[in-house]
Amino acid sequence: MKAAVLHEVGQPLEIEDVEISKPGPREVLVRTVAAGVCHSDLHFKDGTYPYRLPTILGHESAGVVEQVGSEVRYVEPGDHVITCLSAFCGHCEACLTGHMSICSSTELERDPDQEPRLSRQGEHLHQFINLSSFAEQMLIHEHALVKIRKDMPLDRAALIGCGVTTGVGAVHNTAKVEVGSTVAVIGCGGVGLSCINGAAIAGAGRIIAIDTVGSKLNLAKAFGATDVLDASDGDVPKRIKELTDGGVHYSFEAIGTKSTAEQAFKMLRPGGTATVIGMIPVGTKIELHGADFLWERKIQGSAMGSNRFRVDMPRYVDFYLSGRLHLDEMVSQRIRLEDVNDALDALRKGEMARSVIMFDQ
Ligand SMILES: NC(=O)c1ccc[n+]([C@@H]2O[C@H](COP(=O)([O-])OP(=O)(O)OC[C@H]3O[C@@H](n4cnc5c(N)ncnc54)[C@H](O)[C@@H]3O)[C@@H](O)[C@H]2O)c1
Ligand SMILES: [Zn+2]
Ligand SMILES: [Zn+2]
Repeated sequence: MKAAVLHEVGQPLEIEDVEISKPGPREVLVRTVAAGVCHSDLHFKDGTYPYRLPTILGHESAGVVEQVGSEVRYVEPGDHVITCLSAFCGHCEACLTGHMSICSSTELERDPDQEPRLSRQGEHLHQFINLSSFAEQMLIHEHALVKIRKDMPLDRAALIGCGVTTGVGAVHNTAKVEVGSTVAVIGCGGVGLSCINGAAIAGAGRIIAIDTVGSKLNLAKAFGATDVLDASDGDVPKRIKELTDGGVHYSFEAIGTKSTAEQAFKMLRPGGTATVIGMIPVGTKIELHGADFLWERKIQGSAMGSNRFRVDMPRYVDFYLSGRLHLDEMVSQRIRLEDVNDALDALRKGEMARSVIMFDQ
C-alpha cells in the first residue's frame, strides 16, 4: 500500500510502497478514506517533539473496516469508523477513573518480538501514536477506533479524529465551561475553531477569537465567535481585559508557544481557568506571576480534549448532522497523499483550517 514515510526529522515525507501485516486477535484493518493534516504532525516532522523513526505520520482519520482479528466483537467488515490516538487499555487507573485520554499503557502495541504492523523491504516502520493515518490502510488495536453512523460523510468525520475532539473536548470535558461564561480562544486553526464551536454549544455568553490572520478571524465568526481580536496589534491580555471588564472566565491556548500560553493565563479574571492545548516545544518553560494565583487563577493542560472518544465522537457526529458543529467550513482543501508536504508547510502560515487527504477508493 501507499504511505507517507518520515525517515529523517526536517526532511519531506516520502510517498512509498509499504507492507502492512494481517490483523492479530484484537486488531482491525481499516481502509483509510480521509485523513486531516494536524499541526501535531508538523511538530513531529520538525522534531520539536521526538519520535521513533522511520514512521508514517498522520493521526486524524476515518475509514471503513476491511478485516477484523479473531477476538474482535465490536466492529465487523463494512463498518464506518473514526480512529483515535487515545487508545485505551480499559483496566489501568486512568481508564477506570474515566480519564482514558491519559492511559499510558503500551499493551496496545505489538511486542518487539512480533512481526511489526508496518514495514518496508524488511525494515520496521514505527506506527505513529497507535495509528499512522497517512496511508491507504491502517492496522490498529480495536481500542483505537469508534464505530459511527453511516450517513456521516467520512471526510468530515476524519476531523473529529483529532482537532474537533481536542477543541470541543477541552471546553466540555477539561474546562467544563459554564453557560453564560466568557471564553477566549488564542489560535483559530482546526483545534481553536473547535474550541469556539464547543463554547457555543456549551452556551458561553461571549466567545472571543484571537488570531494573527484576518481570514481566520472571519472564519471564527462562523463557528460562534461573538468578538474577534487581531493579535498582531499587540498586548493581547490588556486588550482582552478591557473588552471583558477585567478578564475572561476561561481561556484556551491552541497554538503551542511560550508567549501565547503566558497570555492565556494573564487574560484571566480572578477565579478563571486557562487551558493549554498547544504542544509547546519540549524543554520550553513558561513564566507566570506568582501573585496571580492568590486570586484563584488556574492553569491546566488538556490531552486530546480529555476524551472518552467512544462516547464523545458519536455525539459530535450527531452535533454535525443536526447543524451545530460546523465541519464543512473547517475543510480548507481536499488533497491527495502526494500533496501532504505542501499541506504541512501551509500550516506554518496559519491560513488553512484543515487540509484533508482523500484516498482513492
Ligand atoms: N493537547 C492535545 O491533545 C493536542 C491535540 C491536537 C493538537 N494539539 C496542538 O494544538 C495546536 C494547534 O493545532 P492546529 O492543528 O489547530 O494548528 P494550526 O496551525 O492549524 O492553527 C494555529 C493557529 O494559530 C494562529 N497563530 C499563530 N501564531 C499566533 C499568535 N502569536 N497569536 C494568535 N494566533 C496565532 C495561526 O494563524 C493559526 O490560525 C498545535 O500545537 C497542535 O500540536 C494538541
Ligand atoms: Zn492532531
Ligand atoms: Zn488504561
